[in-house]
Amino acid sequence: MKGVILAGGMGKRLEPLTRITNKHLLPVYNRPMIYYPIQTLIEAGVRNILIVTGGNNAGDFLKLLGNGEDFGIKGIQYAYQQGENGIADALRLAEHFAGHDKIIVILGDNVLDSPIKSFVDEFRRQKNGARILIKKVPDPERFGVVKFKGEKIVSIIEKPKVPPSEYAVTGIYMYDKTVFEFIKKLKPSRRGELEITDVNNMYLRKKQLSYNVLEGNWTDCGTFHSLYRANRVMAMKYAKNRTHDK
Ligand code: DAU
Repeated sequence: MKGVILAGGMGKRLEPLTRITNKHLLPVYNRPMIYYPIQTLIEAGVRNILIVTGGNNAGDFLKLLGNGEDFGIKGIQYAYQQGENGIADALRLAEHFAGHDKIIVILGDNVLDSPIKSFVDEFRRQKNGARILIKKVPDPERFGVVKFKGEKIVSIIEKPKVPPSEYAVTGIYMYDKTVFEFIKKLKPSRRGELEITDVNNMYLRKKQLSYNVLEGNWTDCGTFHSLYRANRVMAMKYAKNRTHDK
């Protein structure tokens, strides 16, 4: 399975932190944010990685990550998203890289402290379709939110004013190659973006969307508070290895 990290967008909610750099290069505890999704993929056994980025600082990803030496992998591929037309628009650029393989997609600002390998292995065994990871959160209205009937997901609603459950769709998605056909059918949403939630609802309508509930801590880094939370989560995770500032 191949891995795609989406690290485009302008990070406007983090101005002025993002005025002179890309959001995903900002520090989260002891490393740049982009290191975390790379690590998550590698721990799940994914070695073939594409990073989609954009904006004025795309070249800095190459300077920072090179060919993936820090992670013990042989190469990282890069793609450039013009503008910031949404997560599904960024994913569109991975079609050639994916070929006929299944992919795992992770948003470049999603940080978690527990492994996802067992879920990825389940998807490796799944014949086709898609799999999402969901997480119970105190502020579901900030995310894509799942609506359940019993244990079955019946729909996903992007940033609902009145959330139908407390379960957010995390930025970790697994897809078969149909995803690129679905993306081609998308129309921009009210906020002018091609929405990944619309893609997931297309899989749902075909009864091809499965899910797992994520364990451990998970957060995005899209706002000052969530960036602060990501720093706290990672400080807790790595504190036990701390030697330099006792
Ligand atoms: O974090 C999980 C949430 O991410 C999901 O629950 C939502 O359903 C999903 O829409 C998304 O919501 P956000 O509004 O938080 O997404 P945001 O615009 O902050 O983008 C998240 C990441 O996606 C960003 O760090 C980089 C990537 N991205 C985003 C856009 C808009 C791109 O690569 N290109 C883009 O054009």
